[in-house]
Amino acid sequence: MAAVALKLSAPWRSVRLRSLVRFSPVPSLKFHTTASPMMGVTVEQFEQAKGKLSTLKNDPGNEVKLKIYALFKQATQGPCNTPKPGMLDFVNKVKWDAWKSLGSIPQDEARQQYCDLVGSLVAAEGGSSAQVAAEAAGSSTTYQTLLVTTEDDITTIKLNRPAKKNAITTEMYNEIIAALEQAAKDDSVLTVFTGAGDFYCSGNDLTNFTKIPEGGVEAMAKQGGELLRKYVKAYIDFPKPLIAVVNGPAVGVSVTVLGLFDLVYATERATFHTPFSQLGQSAEGCSSYTFPKMMGNAKASEMLLFNKKLTAVQACELGLVTEVFPDSSFQSEVWTRLKAYAKLPPNSLALSKQLIRSMEKERLHAVNDAEVERLVERWMSDECFNAVMSFFQAKAKL
Ligand code: COA
Repeated sequence: MAAVALKLSAPWRSVRLRSLVRFSPVPSLKFHTTASPMMGVTVEQFEQAKGKLSTLKNDPGNEVKLKIYALFKQATQGPCNTPKPGMLDFVNKVKWDAWKSLGSIPQDEARQQYCDLVGSLVAAEGGSSAQVAAEAAGSSTTYQTLLVTTEDDITTIKLNRPAKKNAITTEMYNEIIAALEQAAKDDSVLTVFTGAGDFYCSGNDLTNFTKIPEGGVEAMAKQGGELLRKYVKAYIDFPKPLIAVVNGPAVGVSVTVLGLFDLVYATERATFHTPFSQLGQSAEGCSSYTFPKMMGNAKASEMLLFNKKLTAVQACELGLVTEVFPDSSFQSEVWTRLKAYAKLPPNSLALSKQLIRSMEKERLHAVNDAEVERLVERWMSDECFNAVMSFFQAKAKL
């Protein structure tokens, strides 16, 4: 990879990105009319996004360039079925890996992501784009693990590691915190969380446990604890309506923080799983407080102690989910509704949310502190260590 990175890090203006995209075989696009919608993206918008790419002045970095390449290929050709290039064919091998990593995400989803990503790069350079600034607060950095867009008064934070089922890495935790800070300040009325690909999120990325810093396991646990505390705090303090559009299965911390959202819409394909004891860990995201409160102790214990996985309908019956939609109409029904909600008076919405939450804020912060303290201890335990190792060695799945 080092050799490849060197090759790809040639000056931006020396058309490396363009070579990644343009020199690749681009089949003629088989769309019906230029105005036909492709999951919200028209052929024209896709073509415009292609055009905008060549206007970028700054090199967005190898990782982003590879992502653009992969999305383009997926959008125009579908999943990668070409033979894997040989080991010594470094550049084509990383390009192939990037495309392959998108798995089976549908072409319309890839087109949408391609337009979102290009739009965010253009916006980051101060250009005009309907897809506004995917920038971390106060910096010009584009997100590596998220797609953040603002449209129709809605800021959408899309977890964007579909090949890893949107598992949350340390980098991604930090980016989500930054994206929430940014969304709290921007002009949008609603903030929406969703996932790219077939999963909503598979929870904490277990590779986070394998990156042991200099101070050993204890330092790793303490740093992880501080990050988690900050992460959950960002949800507790979020000032505007926060909505989860749960597009597929959800695991771990992506489920527990749902108790801090204002609305949770789920496709019927979604499941909700918090396998903490299975992993030698304990509850977080304030779920030790919000779950018993919303569903009663008996049902909360079944989830948080005994790893019970809920279907979307069960989660809705227990109050964790607001409403369940058929998978085939999920996106269109939910977004139609959200666009209408975003037209409501923003101050009234934010103030009403704050009234509902204000009684609980202090308690939620205390719960967060207590959960983090317990988890730091758990992360140093043999029970946790053995569970994580068995995931990587035996690929023990949930
Ligand atoms: N941490 C790290 N990697 C993860 C992950 C996680 N939480 N969830 C998924 N992945 C990775 C897989 O290792 C796999 O990587 P690979 O392609 O390099 O082998 C990739 O994402 C795709 O996942 P895969 O397991 O092939 O998909 P699946 O549909 O068969 O199973 C899960 C999906 C989520 C059930 C399974 O990956 C799993 O059990 N993950 C662990 C979830 C977990 O324990 N989360 C923490 C909760 S506290």
